Amino acid sequence: MGDLVAVSFGGAIRPRRGRRRRDGWWEARPGSWVIARDGKPVSHIRVVYNVLSVYGCQLKIASIGGVCTHPDYRRRGIAGALLDHCIEVAADAGASLLLISGERGLYRRAMAVDAGPTYEVEVRPGSVKASTRTPQARAPQARAPRARRAAPGDWVSCARLHQREPVRFVRSAGFFARAFSGHGGRGAWVIECGGEVAAYVLLSRPWGTPRDHPRRLATEYAGSRAALVEGLPSLFESSGFERITFRAPQWDREMAYLFRRAGLDGKPATLLDHTIRLLDLPRLMRRLRPYVAARLLRAESRRLTFEQEGHRCVFALGDEMVELGLKEACALVLGGPEAPQVEGELGRVLAALFPLPCPLPGMNYV
Ligand SMILES: CC(C)(COP(=O)(O)OP(=O)(O)OC[C@H]1O[C@@H](n2cnc3c(N)ncnc32)[C@H](O)[C@@H]1OP(=O)(O)O)[C@@H](O)C(=O)NCCC(=O)NCCS
Repeated sequence: MGDLVAVSFGGAIRPRRGRRRRDGWWEARPGSWVIARDGKPVSHIRVVYNVLSVYGCQLKIASIGGVCTHPDYRRRGIAGALLDHCIEVAADAGASLLLISGERGLYRRAMAVDAGPTYEVEVRPGSVKASTRTPQARAPQARAPRARRAAPGDWVSCARLHQREPVRFVRSAGFFARAFSGHGGRGAWVIECGGEVAAYVLLSRPWGTPRDHPRRLATEYAGSRAALVEGLPSLFESSGFERITFRAPQWDREMAYLFRRAGLDGKPATLLDHTIRLLDLPRLMRRLRPYVAARLLRAESRRLTFEQEGHRCVFALGDEMVELGLKEACALVLGGPEAPQVEGELGRVLAALFPLPCPLPGMNYV
């Protein structure tokens, strides 16, 4: 099994050897599913469970990654079959959504859509307009936001900044302590203002690029957006990177405002390299009851119902209803270019709820 993943991913993931079965699928170790052909494991998928907090509502989601098939067994529908099995496993485990680290036909055929929506900003050294920076940023050097590589001890401040985020993965203190224990906290940089950590950003290497590649992707951030934007010149200076791509979730209006103010125009995009799939619409909406109650009048939310039967989803407001395929329903709930237009009173009510705000996967990348 270690051989399979090593051959398919150049040795990036090495799950331990597990119990073997002939030609079926099995869980080689917790969360690592494999499928066998000719009596040996030939395809692998990793499934991890997380809890999302969306404005205080907590919902269980499954994340999928490490998808690979041995080169000799590709294009026979084996990864597709294992993926279908993992989707069933995740739904049975009580997850409402499935986040997939990848954006290929394999996932789209399994009814996943581009995850998002986000907006993308490309930043290069010198592209932040000095004139738009706040007095804090123009202050004497000692008080200006300063970026440095995160140290292991920064996990405490970063965990607290993350805990204050309105839309985030629920993480324990131990999760942060472990994530920051290695050198540079897996690409985490902190922005200090007046001696305090005001924000952090996780800068990841684009998939398949060498270690010293000068471009980075901001795959997670938390804390003061102003400190982040104003700290960009210092971030480039300290890191030596030549280009940073930010994809910020569209719900983060403050980040968009500050980027624009700094002369950095964004363009609409989806969550980098990710697709997302609905697993159980009625369950998702039950978990989101407080979110719905805060956005709709009681008379509206009482008439609103959500049903799912296999790959068909029904959204209804009293007598008004719309029936959608799973993919369209997923795009409606989670946003993105494939989202259908729903007319009338039902359309207005659904537009008040969706797209559902989602966080960047960042440290929860599978
Ligand atoms: C991506 C990967 C996991 C696909 O595994 P697989 O077992 O070949 O997957 P499937 O056979 O289910 O589907 C793969 C392709 O074969 C095609 N296919 C499926 N059954 C087929 C059949 N009977 N005849 C011909 N083609 C077939 C599908 O159309 C699919 O094409 P698409 O995804 O480009 O649209 C495999 O190529 C791999 O390990 N790649 C390296 C690691 C990697 O990139 N992982 C994905 C990270 S996101």
